[in-house]
Amino acid sequence: MQATAQAQPNIALIKYWGKRDIARNLPAAGSISITLDSLWTRMTVEFGDYSGDKLEVNGSESIDMLPRVSSCLNDVAGLDRPAAMVRSDCNFPIAAGLASSASAFAALVIAADKAAMFSNDRSTLTGFAGKASGSAARSMFEGFAELSVDDDGIDVHTLVPAGDWRLEVVVAVTESNAKPVTSGEAMQRCMEGSPFYRSWIDGQPADLGEARDAILSRDFAKLAAVSEHNCLKMHAVMWGARPAVVFWNQATLAAMQTIRQLQDDEIPVFFTIDAGPQLKAICLAEATDSVRAALDQTDGVLRTMRSSLGKGARLVEDS
Ligand code: DP6
Repeated sequence: MQATAQAQPNIALIKYWGKRDIARNLPAAGSISITLDSLWTRMTVEFGDYSGDKLEVNGSESIDMLPRVSSCLNDVAGLDRPAAMVRSDCNFPIAAGLASSASAFAALVIAADKAAMFSNDRSTLTGFAGKASGSAARSMFEGFAELSVDDDGIDVHTLVPAGDWRLEVVVAVTESNAKPVTSGEAMQRCMEGSPFYRSWIDGQPADLGEARDAILSRDFAKLAAVSEHNCLKMHAVMWGARPAVVFWNQATLAAMQTIRQLQDDEIPVFFTIDAGPQLKAICLAEATDSVRAALDQTDGVLRTMRSSLGKGARLVEDS
C-alpha cells in the first residue's frame, strides 16, 4: 500500500525556540504561525518487502534525514512495521531556513498513516509530526495556527482559516545552500549558554496573547509590531549563545532595511527571519507586488518567492 500526502511550510510569527523535553521534542513555549500555499513538500510512503528503510529527496538518495524519517515512521506505524520506501519532492530549497522539515514531517505522518492502513486522528498525527520536528505540528493546520504546550504534550488549532484574512508572504532568498547549524543544535546552544534564554521564554505568553488578539481582530499593525519584536528577540538569544549563532548575512540586513523603507512609505508589511538567512516579508495582499519588486531590487537577494496562506497537510493520492 502506497500513499502520498502534501504539506506546506509554515512561518512562525511568534517563534518556537527552545525545548522543555528534548527526548519528546516538546517545545518550551507555544507558538503562532501561518501555513503557506505555493511552496510544498509531497511525501510518498510505501511499506513493503525492502531490506531497510530508504529515503529519496528530489530523486536522490538521502542518508542524512533517514534516521529521523525512520523514527517518525516507527511512531506512526509501530516498531513491527515493514520497511518503507519514502520519496520526498519539494519545490523550494531544503534546509536553508524555509521550514522544509516542517512540511516534510507533516506530509510524512499523513502518508505513513494511510500507507499503514491506520486511521489515527489528526491530533495524534500532529503529536507525531511535532515529535519529529516541533514546527511540523503547525503545518498540519491551515491559515493562522496556534500551538500550545504543557508537560503532557502539544495541542494545535487554527485560529483563523487561510481565506479569512488575505495576508501574503514574499520570501527573499539570500543563500541557497544548507545552513551550517541545524535549528535543533542552535536551540540547544541557546538553552545551555545564552543569558537571554530565560527571559525569552518568560516573555512568550505576553507575545502570544498580543499576536492572538491581533489575528482575531485582523489588526495588521499590531501583528506586525509583536511579530518583529518576537523575531528579533529570538535572534538576540542566539547572538548571546557561546559560541554565538548568527544566521544573517549582509543581504538579510539589506532586506530588513528594504522593509523599513516600505514601512516608512506606509506599505503594510513586516518581516520575520527563522533559523537561516532568508527574510520573509508578510504583507496585506494588495501590497505584495510592491513588496516583491522592492526585495527583488535589494542587493544580495538571489530571488523571491510569493505565497498566499494555505491548507494543512492532506492526502493527495493513494492506491
Ligand atoms: C526558528 O522545528 O526546525 O523556525 O523541533 O528541533 O526540528 P526541531 O526544530 P524546528 O525549529 C523551528 C525554529 C524556527 C521557529 C519556528 O518555526 O517556530
